[in-house]
Amino acid sequence: LLPQELIRLKRDNQPLPAEEIKAFVQGIADDHISDAQIGAFTMAVFLNGMSREEVVALTTATRDSGHVMQWSDLNLSGPIVDKHSTGGVGDLVSLVLGPWVAACGAFVPMISGRGLGHTGGTLDKLESIPGYDPYPAPERFREVVKSTGVAIIGQTGDLAPADKRIYGVRDVTATVESIPLITASILGKKLASGLDALVMDVKVGSGAFMPTPEKSRELAKSIANVATQAGTPTTALLTDMSQPLAPCAGNAVEIVETLALLRGDRPNSRVMQVTRELAVEMLIAGKLAGSREEALTQLEKALTSGAAAEVFAQMVRELGGPSDFMERSEHYLAKADVIKPVYAEQAGTVQRIDTRAVGMSVVELGGGRLRNDASVDHSVGFTDIVEIGENVDSQRPIAMVHARSDAAAERAAEQLRAAFTIGEAAASADTLLQDTF
Ligand code: URA
Repeated sequence: LLPQELIRLKRDNQPLPAEEIKAFVQGIADDHISDAQIGAFTMAVFLNGMSREEVVALTTATRDSGHVMQWSDLNLSGPIVDKHSTGGVGDLVSLVLGPWVAACGAFVPMISGRGLGHTGGTLDKLESIPGYDPYPAPERFREVVKSTGVAIIGQTGDLAPADKRIYGVRDVTATVESIPLITASILGKKLASGLDALVMDVKVGSGAFMPTPEKSRELAKSIANVATQAGTPTTALLTDMSQPLAPCAGNAVEIVETLALLRGDRPNSRVMQVTRELAVEMLIAGKLAGSREEALTQLEKALTSGAAAEVFAQMVRELGGPSDFMERSEHYLAKADVIKPVYAEQAGTVQRIDTRAVGMSVVELGGGRLRNDASVDHSVGFTDIVEIGENVDSQRPIAMVHARSDAAAERAAEQLRAAFTIGEAAASADTLLQDTF
């Protein structure tokens, strides 16, 4: 079919044959299809949706539009597993999870992203570590995954190149918010790393990428079903993002928290509960554990023995970071010039948090990007953020702000006060793990 004929079929709500979707996506990767045709196609999909079979075809075609990693030649002693998340605020899960499951025998080739909108980026956080190279040569990446069990790096140009063009067009044609397109975009990239199994963390709440709980749920189901049908067994967890997941948000500050968590501090914090649930799914899907109990036992051991922390240290070392990073992280991580408490205007209990606003405030402090090519200030952000249900008063601040200047700290403090609803009533956080698909 000519591209315009495929577009016409979708425009008229007719089914698209899988092999025609494949040819169209290959044409996008080869530059045979124009941006105008991509835009017309994505708008037709946005308006008319896609059948499950069509989304599977779009996903596999996107995955196969570039290099698909192979691991069989390395004779790894365990499964290749990974996690992906729709992103959040104070969401440092990847940094703990990758080393933790690697310490239990899994191999995790994690391709991560930079901050997007109000959400933080795992790569930006890792780049707080001097020397850490998120773009190793492909062969080096494979070596580190083999020797360490985990490597967290950035996306290379030959990974699902069709998605790069499609996403760029969607961004400027009001076609981002389509569950079939989001599913194929996320999975097309993720499945190109040659995984045996995947877990997906789909967020719900005021800091989530999806605008409503219903849409989050729909995306979670779509991803789990499409990935599994495309040949990669996938479980999707629906988890709470109605407040920052860790009590901090930023880059270096989240690395500090990561190290504490890997050392076994705060094992029952909200972020560790989510991380543990995802880890259990990964160990079971990768057949490293036969049951939830077995997985929990292995995870507990990997944490308390120091094995998980050692894997993180080795990953940092292998990817160019300091060899004594764990022992001397304070020496290596940038500190903000101004660190001060943010107090609420009245004493009371935290009722609600506008988590997106907290994330945007980190971006404005310089911890994220307002433009694609902007640089990130690794030192800024918030720490000691109170949770929903906790009390604040003139002694207990909402958070500590880390900023470049007094003026920036003051602006962020105003934004933070506006993002927190303080009241008289008792309040409790939403359930952390809301569903599994
Ligand atoms: N993230 C992606 O990679 N793709 C989308 O379409 C949305 C979020």
